[in-house]
Amino acid sequence: MRQPPLTPNKGKIVVLPDAEAIAQNAAERLLGRIAQARVPAAICLTGGSSPQRLYQLLAAEPYRSRLPWNRVHWFMGDDRFVPAQDALSNMAMARRLFLDRIPVPSENVHPIDTTLQSPDAAARRYEAELEHFRGRDQLDPARPLFELVLMGLGPDGHTASLFPDAPALTEQERWVVGVDHAGWEPFVPRVTLTFPALASAREMLFLVDGADKRGILARVLAGDDLPASRARCDGELVWLVDRAAAPQADHGS
Ligand code: 6PG
Repeated sequence: MRQPPLTPNKGKIVVLPDAEAIAQNAAERLLGRIAQARVPAAICLTGGSSPQRLYQLLAAEPYRSRLPWNRVHWFMGDDRFVPAQDALSNMAMARRLFLDRIPVPSENVHPIDTTLQSPDAAARRYEAELEHFRGRDQLDPARPLFELVLMGLGPDGHTASLFPDAPALTEQERWVVGVDHAGWEPFVPRVTLTFPALASAREMLFLVDGADKRGILARVLAGDDLPASRARCDGELVWLVDRAAAPQADHGS
């Protein structure tokens, strides 16, 4: 059987039938990473539509009973700089779909604080929170921040709130930065983890589904200089892609 292709950043691509299969596969991977984790485990969530079915699955059986909710902490890889309950807030979406539906201790949920005066202030606060959580201010590939980091792929190749040509793309020191001008809808200021912080994981999992993602995914896989092409992981980098988004879908394989 033909080996799955490697992405330019040496990730593995797993092609699945549809978005439902992606959500199931992601849920199993998430559980597996938590099962292997030191205590406490940390998961870095993402916004957008791609993870929403996964979030619903986590709140439903059998995952609801299988997840050791008390020892898992939930962070957000990027958020929009809007009030906590705003419809545009990524953490509000995650709360609505699963975190508010299960008995998660409130201290295990780590939203980006958007009550501060600026995205940069919120970014510095979130970086301090991550440092406090792990008890260190240096990234260490042997002791990653997260068990699993979820990522999406935007229509322009952005991932998290790392947009084409943005200064944040090349940030190497900061773990979290403010983004005053989003490069894609919704055009609201953002706060985002940087590539080095996102890379600090045992597994980074991209979720990509739908025919509208096929063109941009093909460009990422071809190695075009797009934000998502720059993603790295200290552990395993995996792309879960459905048939509609996979470049070979046109050829029926
Ligand atoms: C955000 C996301 C963003 C998202 C991509 C893909 O805050 O908007 O974190 O990076 O993952 O835009 O979005 P979809 O899943 O909706 O295609």
